[in-house]
Amino acid sequence: MAVIASFLFLFLWCSVPLDAHGFHTYIVQLHPHSIPASASATGLQNKLHWHLSFLDRATFLEGGGDASSRLLYSYHSALEGFAARLTEDEVAALRALPGVIAVRPDSRLELHTTYSYTFLGLNFAPGGAWSRSRFGQGTIIGVLDTGVWPESPSFRDDRMPPVPTRWRGVCQEGEHFNSSNCNRKLIGARFYAKGHRINYPEKSSSVSLLEYVSPRDAHGHGTHTSSTAAGAAVPGASVLGLGAGEARGMAPGAHIAAYKVCWFNGCYSSDILAGMDDAIRDGVDVLSLSLGGFPIPLFEDSIAIGSFRATERGVVVVCAAGNNGPVPSSVANEAPWITTVGASTLDRRFPAFVRLGNGRILYGESMFPGNHFSKNGGKELELIYEAGGQKGAEFCLKGSLSKARISGKMVVCDRGVNGRAEKGEAVKEAGGAAMVLANSEINQQEDSVDVHVLPATLIGYAQSTILKSYMNSTFRPVAKLVYGGTRIRRSRAPAVALFSSRGPSLTNPSVLKPDLIAPGVNIIAAWPSNVGPSGLQEDRRKSNFTVLSGTSMACPHASGIAALVRSAHPSWSPAAIRSAMMTTADVVDHLGKPIMDGKEPAGVFSVGAGHVNPARAVDPGLVYDVQPEDYIAHICSLGYNQAEIFTITHRNISCGKLLKGQKQFNLNYPSISVSFTQGRTSTTIQRKLTNVGLPDSIYTVQVTAPPGVTVTVTPKILAFGGINEIKSYTVVFESKKGVQEEGSVAGGQLMWVHSGRKKYKVRSPISVTWGA
Ligand SMILES: *[C@@H]1O[C@H](CO)[C@@H](O)[C@H](O)[C@H]1NC(C)=O
Ligand SMILES: *[C@@H]1O[C@H](CO)[C@@H](O)[C@H](O)[C@H]1NC(C)=O
Ligand SMILES: *[C@@H]1O[C@H](CO)[C@@H](O)[C@H](O)[C@H]1NC(C)=O
Ligand SMILES: *[C@@H]1O[C@H](CO)[C@@H](O)[C@H](O)[C@H]1NC(C)=O
Repeated sequence: MAVIASFLFLFLWCSVPLDAHGFHTYIVQLHPHSIPASASATGLQNKLHWHLSFLDRATFLEGGGDASSRLLYSYHSALEGFAARLTEDEVAALRALPGVIAVRPDSRLELHTTYSYTFLGLNFAPGGAWSRSRFGQGTIIGVLDTGVWPESPSFRDDRMPPVPTRWRGVCQEGEHFNSSNCNRKLIGARFYAKGHRINYPEKSSSVSLLEYVSPRDAHGHGTHTSSTAAGAAVPGASVLGLGAGEARGMAPGAHIAAYKVCWFNGCYSSDILAGMDDAIRDGVDVLSLSLGGFPIPLFEDSIAIGSFRATERGVVVVCAAGNNGPVPSSVANEAPWITTVGASTLDRRFPAFVRLGNGRILYGESMFPGNHFSKNGGKELELIYEAGGQKGAEFCLKGSLSKARISGKMVVCDRGVNGRAEKGEAVKEAGGAAMVLANSEINQQEDSVDVHVLPATLIGYAQSTILKSYMNSTFRPVAKLVYGGTRIRRSRAPAVALFSSRGPSLTNPSVLKPDLIAPGVNIIAAWPSNVGPSGLQEDRRKSNFTVLSGTSMACPHASGIAALVRSAHPSWSPAAIRSAMMTTADVVDHLGKPIMDGKEPAGVFSVGAGHVNPARAVDPGLVYDVQPEDYIAHICSLGYNQAEIFTITHRNISCGKLLKGQKQFNLNYPSISVSFTQGRTSTTIQRKLTNVGLPDSIYTVQVTAPPGVTVTVTPKILAFGGINEIKSYTVVFESKKGVQEEGSVAGGQLMWVHSGRKKYKVRSPISVTWGA
């Protein structure tokens, strides 16, 4: 299987190669209004015929072939349309047919805990998030990922309530998977391989990787994310003895439905859409997608399009922000109806120091079990770097290392190019005794640990510079690894993970993204017992848990917490649930100081509204609600044309009419994003708050104005009578002239503070950008 580390190099949109017959896979979107009455009235089978009628008219079939042989999927819920294999001429013919609104090539996307629930303050206290939501009972989380390992103890259903009667999903049979693998915890499982198979036909595939043609997870990623969202309690969980504790998902009472849309080579849009299409019909409450690509316009983005439909039907869609940080504007999955999640660090450490021959001790981290350390890495060993003269030896690429030179030595490998666990495997294969993984400048002090197949530690960039100059300074450099166990101490955590993708959103800077951050570094969660905890095929050790890092791990934390809020408030809209999570998020770390991003306090474009706080999210006091129509008005205000809006919404909207009388339309978003462009120095926004806390509540505004901006809120006091009462306010932002340069950014906040005993604080981050 692809190595764990590759999740950090996620996110690539690639054009799909032609298959052997000169076909591409395309996703064809149809106009639902042109559905013949017979088809719309009588269900899916007739819709399928209707979809095939388009293929019949546009394809050039030889020898009386059958158009259905070209069809991969027929979609009805996530969008109206189908995926099919077509030539370019056929695409042109399809585009010319009435009723066809868009034809897009399929695209490939990539996959982007024993402890994190305690870190997030989840506990059994009465009035806490778990007690208020009954652990998320009655809620169903759909996870689109690499499938699931159903035997994992995290998916046991011991104290689970029965499957909700509204559930329409299935437990799809396949290779090593049958209906007995589902239970009251894992209530559904399906798989989607057609888009993937086009590119990797079974027989011609040169890749000899293990893969199950079923919902079974041959990779591990989906098992990990599903258990993070809603895994059952597993006492005595550990990774080869490390990080031991009781493993538990965020919503241990919620049900899980696995939709396997990702395979060893990534995830194809056509398969993802098919999974979303079923998940919406099956009746999931929350959809969790730890995958994505680079930012692209919403009307070309299958996840954005499918999740618009899902949101309309009340499903909360939560997505990973991507692992392309700290580059600005790298945030993906940024549609305003999606909850976009960045990653933060925990305060749990796995110290494994490098003690150099000159006595200097360098801090590093590792998850290699200590007792093995003392046998191999714990001895003083000769250090060696770039050992082999071969290209790539500094990265410890497979086959680049010289057995003669590294045998029995401690090999220094630069981070980057290949997977981290893979480097360990390469060193071990070539006879190395231990490994020091050295961060390069771009990784700085980022410290995602891995489970390695030999004694190893990861050191930061500063330490790696010291190590290398020591190696330069002496004829025979030596070092030993000193293992420090698992340590939890109050420290500057959470902090923003270096790799977490940053805003401002490239396609829509008028909405601040990411929305929030959640734990995503060194997360321990369930793992298939036949995939080694390093994620490498060669690794034969067995463990029901492993450690992974990425916004892929942050996303299911937020999905599980969304399920808790949904359980506590079953009637809330997806927007109200997101608002509750955002306005209650923490902006300080566990020491009460500002959340950090490297050496600086974190800005709004890295943390969004802050670090998710489940105990407060289930009882936010006030929420900013959004109706699906408001999202349409919003994309109108962005200047999308009618065809583009149709592609996203499946509705023929006249933006002129919709925005009539509301020239200054503002999406009622829980964060505020202001840009001063084209000489504008003043802007006014409006927001509406719904009282979901206590009747007869008075809230007073407190503003921290972004530097260089004057902020005026009217009114300054909001008095709510009853529950569900709605109050509006306006905010005027004025840029102080001459203060700011083009391209500069600033952050601030606006907070409504409850004057009663509850002391609700409803906080919105403010981002301001100048120019462009
Ligand atoms: C993993 O879980 C299975 C099923 O609960 C159990 O039988 C097995 O002992 C566990 N393995 C380890 C290494 O804990
Ligand atoms: C599912 O597979 C298991 C193991 O092969 C078998 O024991 C069981 O009877 C099967 N269940 C069904 C419903 O086919
Ligand atoms: C070590 O020496 C090599 C070769 O002389 C040089 O390229 C490198 O920059 C040195 N590294 C450090 C950290 O001093
Ligand atoms: C949308 O409506 C306009 C007029 O109301 C019509 O001319 C146009 O064809 C419609 N477009 C679609 C895609 O339905």
